[in-house]
Amino acid sequence: METIQSIRGTKDILPSDVIKWQDLETTARKISACYGYQEIRTPIFEKTEVFSRGVGNNTDIVNKEMYTFDDRSGLSLTLRPEQTASLVRSVIQNNLILENIPTRLFYIGSYFRYERPQKGRLREFHQYGIECINSSYPESDVEVILLAIDFIKQLGITEYKLKLNSIGNTETRDKYKTSLTEYLQQNKNKLSIESQARIDTNPLRVLDSKNNTDMEIITSAPSILDYLDNESNEHFNKVKEMLDSANLNYEITPNLVRGLDYYSHTVFEFQSTYLGAQDAFGGGGRYNNLFSQLGGKDIPSVGFAMGIERLLLILEQIKGNNANQKVDVLLCSTSSDYLKYVTEISSLIRHNCPDMACITDVNRRSLKSLLREANKLNVRYVIIIGDSEVANNTITLKYMQENKEQITIDKNKLIEILLS
Ligand code: HAM
Repeated sequence: METIQSIRGTKDILPSDVIKWQDLETTARKISACYGYQEIRTPIFEKTEVFSRGVGNNTDIVNKEMYTFDDRSGLSLTLRPEQTASLVRSVIQNNLILENIPTRLFYIGSYFRYERPQKGRLREFHQYGIECINSSYPESDVEVILLAIDFIKQLGITEYKLKLNSIGNTETRDKYKTSLTEYLQQNKNKLSIESQARIDTNPLRVLDSKNNTDMEIITSAPSILDYLDNESNEHFNKVKEMLDSANLNYEITPNLVRGLDYYSHTVFEFQSTYLGAQDAFGGGGRYNNLFSQLGGKDIPSVGFAMGIERLLLILEQIKGNNANQKVDVLLCSTSSDYLKYVTEISSLIRHNCPDMACITDVNRRSLKSLLREANKLNVRYVIIIGDSEVANNTITLKYMQENKEQITIDKNKLIEILLS
């Protein structure tokens, strides 16, 4: 019978990689706790309108990339393409808003977008993200960016770019869209077919085009920063001022508009040269209208999400690919008759040394081949159980990393030695 392959754009995370995922997730949880963010988990699928209303009907994500299907009752469901919209749905539904107090949430999960798979771009991918709900002040924009930078640093990534922009409030964007549309119409014939089609549906998205001739036209396009009103300018200036006083480098990028419709004011993206074409490993911004778009009151909020696969690609290039299984003790016996004694000793170790990984031989292999495996696994101790050990209630302990010394001790002394 033919074997079955996984779906294009999805990846199995194999045991040798899981260690790296766990390390990254531990760092994400630690940094979130350190800034007072609590974890939230929402369902992997939602009613489609959570995303069509939340992310926006004219975005690529909603138009082309969602995994949408009718369930057996005819209800249209969608596998979440991102977390922010479903998180806001949940915050409204579960009444997580407190009067004038921010709700700080973080998440780690899998997301689904029907994109063309390539390096760093998958159809099932994973994000770590945070949302600071219910603050309109620039302090929260800066808190979110500081947390992101601390997270990146703790992972060991030092080379990256922070791109920053403001897309102002709704009025700013309406005025800007009119001017931009006019400019793009004037240059329509020089634009790619894809960008031409976007002029009427979502002109801001043209600014994101990676097409070379589009990029030339875009360079001379009007800048959104010239359209910010006083309130938007003041907000953006405060963000920049606070980032400056924290000595953080950023690049003002007027063409950065992001691919989701819910943003207002501050938007930002983290980019790395280690990634190739898909160079953004994280992004976020302020969203002051998303709550009302999903039927709640206006609750100004800000957040970001980072792509875990992309972070791991960067780390692989910086640190190499050398995560190994950690085994501290390998327990072997010279005969399968000693199973009871082996089980007694392995239980003793597992119950008293919970931080140690202890494995036993379950394939009845020779001592020689077990010692070879111990070397390969970089094991610290091998415990050998033979005739005289069983007869005398002892064990033989071989130090594999230091002097390779071998001692025979009373079994009651073992834990003391392992813990010392
Ligand atoms: P996003 O820019 O669409 O923003 O995604 C955030 C990150 O997820 C990207 O920078 C990238 O690293 C990763 N990512 C996105 N699509 C893929 C893919 N197909 N394959 C691999 N990685 C991918 C959001 O999702 C917003 N919800 C962020 C946010 C939170 N804004 C405010 N709060």
